[in-house]
Amino acid sequence: MSELGWGRHYIAVEPTHFRVDYVINPYMDPAVQPDGPTAWRQWHEMVATLRGLGATVDVLAQRSDAPDMVYAMNLGLGVVRDTGDRHVVMSHMRYPERRMESRSAQPWFAERGFTTSYVGRDGVGAHLEAGDAFAWGDALVVGYGPRTEELALKHLASDLGVRVRGMRIAHPGMYHLDLAFCPLDDRRAMVCPSALDEASAQALLALVPEPLVLTEEEALTTFCANSVVVGHTVVMPACPDRVRAQLEEWGFEVVVVDVSEFHKGGGSIRCLTNPVDVTIGRDLPAVAGGAVVLPPE
Ligand code: ARG
Repeated sequence: MSELGWGRHYIAVEPTHFRVDYVINPYMDPAVQPDGPTAWRQWHEMVATLRGLGATVDVLAQRSDAPDMVYAMNLGLGVVRDTGDRHVVMSHMRYPERRMESRSAQPWFAERGFTTSYVGRDGVGAHLEAGDAFAWGDALVVGYGPRTEELALKHLASDLGVRVRGMRIAHPGMYHLDLAFCPLDDRRAMVCPSALDEASAQALLALVPEPLVLTEEEALTTFCANSVVVGHTVVMPACPDRVRAQLEEWGFEVVVVDVSEFHKGGGSIRCLTNPVDVTIGRDLPAVAGGAVVLPPE
């Protein structure tokens, strides 16, 4: 196997103001609040685990008015352009409850030398949530429907100069692609086809030479697709025995870190971390002008 080129540099948001204040996904219930100290401990253990594996994790402060900002994956899509410049396409959140996160994230990225762009902002233009996007094979694979809109795929393709392959999400509980898809190396990925409509499920499976197919129940109840891969180590919130057996047979090491407090907001390890080292020309071919490939209707 050949390891993923990316996944060694993340950003994350320290959970100093994590709460469930509103309902924008089926997991959230303001009557079931996370325990602050437990969440803080779980998050620090996750970050220490990633750093122990050799990854860099840069930390942003959480806004007190943005309880979901801990899910740093949704702040924006970071890439290294083929010119070597670091760039972030800022998310334009579907729900107004999260839009203020960009107001802190954009200057944070800019101060650190990232150029930034928008596909839409402050409620005007296309919605994009970066938890829907993965470099995979010859394209940026982007889930759309519940959060990211189809129009955002065109903006992404032309802004980044890459091929974008859209996958239609059709499951209310897997509202971001990262709840159903996790690249493992250059041939293998965890895939939960029940997140997608029929045509998109077939299209995604066709892009993965060796898929580890997850059942709907595995994905929804354990968040096991919402994992992060550093080299040959898969950092997971939970790992069903069947999934572990396959990962180990393929030569991966599984490290489980409990982030259960964050499941109350509908996200897990991948949602809490955001890789910014996906490199165009290495992890994703450059395509002049960009291109969008949508699944058949
Ligand atoms: N409460 C957050 C939301 O609904 C959870 C985000 C999960 N993040 C992710 N990358 N899947 O927006």
